[in-house]
Amino acid sequence: MTKPRIGVLTSGGDCPGLNAVLRGIALSAEKLNLEVLGFRDGFEGLLPPGNFMILDRRSTSGIMPRGGTIIGTTNRGHFAAKVGAGERAVVAPEIIADARRILKENRVEALIIVGGDGSMMTAQQLQEASINCIGVPKTIDNDLEATASTFGFDSAVAAVTDACDRLHTTATSHKRIMVLEVMGRHAGWIALHGGIAGGAHVILIPEIRFHYDKIVDAIRMREMRGSVYSLVVCAEGACPAEGQPVMRRHEGEEDRYGGIGTVVAREIAARSGKETRCTVLGHLQRGGAPTTLDRILGTRFGVKAVRLAAEGKFGTMVSYQNYQVRHVALAEAVNKLKLVPPDGELVQTARDVEISFGD
Ligand code: F6P
Repeated sequence: MTKPRIGVLTSGGDCPGLNAVLRGIALSAEKLNLEVLGFRDGFEGLLPPGNFMILDRRSTSGIMPRGGTIIGTTNRGHFAAKVGAGERAVVAPEIIADARRILKENRVEALIIVGGDGSMMTAQQLQEASINCIGVPKTIDNDLEATASTFGFDSAVAAVTDACDRLHTTATSHKRIMVLEVMGRHAGWIALHGGIAGGAHVILIPEIRFHYDKIVDAIRMREMRGSVYSLVVCAEGACPAEGQPVMRRHEGEEDRYGGIGTVVAREIAARSGKETRCTVLGHLQRGGAPTTLDRILGTRFGVKAVRLAAEGKFGTMVSYQNYQVRHVALAEAVNKLKLVPPDGELVQTARDVEISFGD
């Protein structure tokens, strides 16, 4: 007898924990007697002739500690539904029709979409076109309002913390100022968490506009107290009070941030006369093995998505709230960014341990 089928795809930038989600989906689906097709390279796998692999006990065995996603992903292509922050592009109706046909031909009754904000916008458009969708939120940036946290974030923060630990020792030896540029787009969560854990002295985040002179004041204050080096963690989306974020627009893609760390290092050197270096941590934050927390959260999210599919709760997204994995309506989840509250407890905690935000 043929088993009912569900599909899954991973979309957008990859992050540690995606394979834990896929394993959670495959194993829990098997228990419910469902077959799982893993569509390759994000939504592109839905295009004719259909590009997928069977996800089962065997094909997902041993993938938990692996970074990336065994079914591939892309943050561009025919289904891109997000351009800049808050901007929605419409997926062409003929592309959606092709995807619906491929799903139908392969007897896929529901599609689990593991992705970030942009992918959830696409999921919503597929749902509106009568494709049964369930979203699983994923982003290292942790900037989705509809869920308290996403897997991948903890692993990214661990990479920042480790980088800070390494920069501390070399900064001390050379009596230098070290600037570490980290990811996060328009949200400062990675910089804030990684900076606190890594003992940064200055943290620059998009939500708090900074002044170069204030950064130099903080560095001088440390010197007066006998500390001859300083560590600045700078979110890629951080922005001076008089200036613009450093980013480039790319046709049909999300804006790409990057470069503010070099500018900050140059300004600090010019204003303080101190030897300054910049390190851009980049995709090291996205690669490698997931942390324990991300493996568990990923597994929980995968299992929950299968339950939602089995219960016919389509047009929903898995969400983590008050230590419980629940679900919310997809429509409620998209396009709502969660930014660092500048007057929140975490920023205040950082200030209380003498971290400057350059404001
Ligand atoms: O949204 C996740 C993220 O890693 C951001 O923090 C970063 O700005 C961006 O993706 C990088 O994307 P890409 O993989 O296109 O370089």
